Amino acid sequence: MARIKTVYSCGECGGQSPKWQGQCPHCGAWNTLTETTVAPPSANPRFQTWTAAASPVQRLSEVQAEELPRTPSGIDELDRVLGGGIVRGAVILLGGDPGIGKSTLLLQALSSLGATKKVLYVSGEESPQQIALRASRLAVDPGRVHLLAEIRMEAILATLQAEAPEVAVIDSIQTLYTEAVTSAPGSVSQVRECAAQLTRVAKQSGTTILLVGHVTKEGAIAGPRVLEHIVDTVLYFEGDAHSSYRMVRAIKNRFGAANELGVFAMTERGLKGVSNPSAIFLSSYRDDVPGSCVLVTQEGSRPLLVEVQALVDDAHGFQPKRLAVGLEQNRLAMLMAVLHRHAGVAVFDQDVFLNAVGGVKIGEPAADLAVVLAMVSSLRDQPLPDKLVVFGEIGLSGEVRPVARGQERLKEAAKLGFTRAIVPSANRPRQPIDGMEVIAVERLAEAVDYCRG
Ligand code: TYD
Ligand code: MG
Repeated sequence: MARIKTVYSCGECGGQSPKWQGQCPHCGAWNTLTETTVAPPSANPRFQTWTAAASPVQRLSEVQAEELPRTPSGIDELDRVLGGGIVRGAVILLGGDPGIGKSTLLLQALSSLGATKKVLYVSGEESPQQIALRASRLAVDPGRVHLLAEIRMEAILATLQAEAPEVAVIDSIQTLYTEAVTSAPGSVSQVRECAAQLTRVAKQSGTTILLVGHVTKEGAIAGPRVLEHIVDTVLYFEGDAHSSYRMVRAIKNRFGAANELGVFAMTERGLKGVSNPSAIFLSSYRDDVPGSCVLVTQEGSRPLLVEVQALVDDAHGFQPKRLAVGLEQNRLAMLMAVLHRHAGVAVFDQDVFLNAVGGVKIGEPAADLAVVLAMVSSLRDQPLPDKLVVFGEIGLSGEVRPVARGQERLKEAAKLGFTRAIVPSANRPRQPIDGMEVIAVERLAEAVDYCRG
């Protein structure tokens, strides 16, 4: 029996250190190292067989480059983020906050896939009764789904081998326990080892495995970077727990485009895809109010109209507050500096709160112009012109930079009844768009002046 070693592994990145330290030497996170014991790999006979078979070396031109066959999951919005459907032998991680709908979505997907494939739902979290109750609520066909309530990895692997399902859901990776590692379920080494074992099974047997991963308080799946490297596809649930809309975003996808967004509504009968979501992120209060600006953002392959709200008000206290929900907080400081220097509007002595309506997260810099105009509108207590949409990235010298797919964004806005758009001059449409007056600007100051009315 080989000697058991004690190491300290980081809860954020999974990196190991021989000694305890306050800061992880791999990723720089503080207070994330915990003690774990590991047996050296040679102690485990399974490791030896994994390295036994060598693959032949071949020329790239000899490789058959076929499109991988995809099986649609039967849920259109999920297929959109997956790049068309599930691929044989793929490992897909679905992350998200507790209660956001991970189990619901996967049970719906499994029962629909179950019409043509053998599917297995492994739950380490809920009892078979609880799952049956959910299935009856969702009105899915329970006869199509095989169920296993288990947390021991070795038992799960044996079942996967015996049953040979084509698709399996593991709910959740944090509840699993493998004897290969001695630490507790949910620890980085357990999560990593279980995911690695399941990945090998998926590749060997061709079973598509969907893993559920919980998100920690800090907003990361336990051992996130480790898991993201292991799996083929990473999907995250986004959205505000108080709104009924849920978004699923592909963070990484070896079989499709990353950053694609699927939109769902949570109903009493489970998650329903929203096939035309462009208008759902506009607040229902349509009378023009100060501090509100409609942005056309491009999420994956679709343009979305999202209302950006700002509240700018006199700060009381030494440090004005800056808070951005759904938008990038760091970019806010930069935009405030540019607004002062290049458009002469000072907000340094003001509290600034920003919100993207509907719980959608906007990462693209094309939101800059909307953020700035919403702030200016709130500061002046003056609504922006009626039926206006904007998009554009703002540079440090006050220039408004072009964004990708400007035409599509404008067309979508026109379709939804908007009649004016402030856009970067390089995004000026070549042909006029019906019913849309386009104000093309080179510099931030022009946009701010236009909105003065
Ligand atoms: P669930 O899928 O259990 O979340 P997760 O697996 O991500 O933790 O979702 C549970 C939530 O969804 C719960 O708050 C109840 C709600 N829900 C509905 O609104 N309608 C439904 O049909 C179902 C099954 C759940
Ligand atoms: Mg669940």
